Amino acid sequence: MAQARPPDPYLGREIAGGKYRILQKIGSGGMGTVYKAMQPNIDRMVAIKILHPKLVNRKDLVSRFSREAKALGHLSHPNTVKVFDDGVLEDNSLFIVMEYLEGRNLNQIVRTGGPMPVERALPILMQVCGALNEAHQRGIVHRDLKPENIFLSTQGGIKDFPKVLDFGLAKVTEQEMRPGSIILTQEGMVFGTPEFMSPEQAQGKILDARSDIYSLAVILYEVLTGKLPFDAKTPMEYIQHHVMTPPIPLHERVPTAGFPPALSEVLNRALAKNPDDRYQTAAEFAQALEPFAQGKNPISAPLPYPVPSSSAPVVIPSSNPSSALTPAPSPAASNTKLLVLVATACLLVGAGLAVLAMKFL
Ligand SMILES: Nc1ncnc2c1ncn2[C@@H]1O[C@H](COP(=O)(O)OP(=O)(O)O)[C@@H](O)[C@H]1O
Ligand SMILES: [Mg+2]
Repeated sequence: MAQARPPDPYLGREIAGGKYRILQKIGSGGMGTVYKAMQPNIDRMVAIKILHPKLVNRKDLVSRFSREAKALGHLSHPNTVKVFDDGVLEDNSLFIVMEYLEGRNLNQIVRTGGPMPVERALPILMQVCGALNEAHQRGIVHRDLKPENIFLSTQGGIKDFPKVLDFGLAKVTEQEMRPGSIILTQEGMVFGTPEFMSPEQAQGKILDARSDIYSLAVILYEVLTGKLPFDAKTPMEYIQHHVMTPPIPLHERVPTAGFPPALSEVLNRALAKNPDDRYQTAAEFAQALEPFAQGKNPISAPLPYPVPSSSAPVVIPSSNPSSALTPAPSPAASNTKLLVLVATACLLVGAGLAVLAMKFL
């Protein structure tokens, strides 16, 4: 007989000294549960993410959680979720209070609705570029971009208004950090999601803004085709492909879709193995996408916010993270739930490269 789940400890409760009343569970990821809640004193709905209580003894995850609140506190772009408050609950669980968003994340949308047409997908992704550009200019690299972490909300009657979520892995570079926030560089572990991971992240190398551009390109590829740029069965295979295999060109992935080859070229550049060969800023990537949003496939509504046109300095973090991986479900690869040390990944990738090298020598 299936065991009954224990009741949710927060549902229906008031938390933080009565400041918020938890109404309903609306999402959950690797780190925590997200609830819809009421803030009675100003009569507004908020979303509250609470770190899974069983994780409060994990120092690395606790700092990841406070890192998210800190990173979001630096950002004010309309396409980045707003954070209002954060703190510790009576039972020692950590929480973050955010604006409440109506809608669904990109993973849910593509899983149920299938791939999106170019004229819908590009304006969404270009706005995400705007949010990332701001983060990168402030020295913040997201490091866990994937469809679950992009939410499509309706704002002021505008549909498909994307919001970038989950800065739990975000890295604030040292030059941007205030004195005392050493925890970010002392931590040896970094997480990521194999299907959307840049080659440098897969190899545990130093990451900068260009790693986010690669992950964003994988997301766009998946949103347009319902598939990832490589065929793989396991997270480890994805990691190897990110490092070694050229992406299947977009127009070959779904030949019947009629994607312009020039759009494949834009994606190929964003998916270059070497960060130097990619678009160097999110703004540059957005500019490269723009003609396809406006030319061949005219968009029906103007973008609610201008896409930035200035180029931003590239962020070079000064610490060298090693990695662990927490894959999360995606439309094309939904059942890859495991935690692996990236050291293992690097060894495998290294072994693969060695085998290849031996073949050619
Ligand atoms: N502010 C919000 N409003 C509405 N739903 C949200 C909000 N934040 C997160 N969610 C939902 O909860 C899911 C998990 O949130 P996320 O911040 O990614 O948590 P985790 O760190 O556990 O992955 C998201 O994919 C989204 O569907
Ligand atoms: Mg998430």
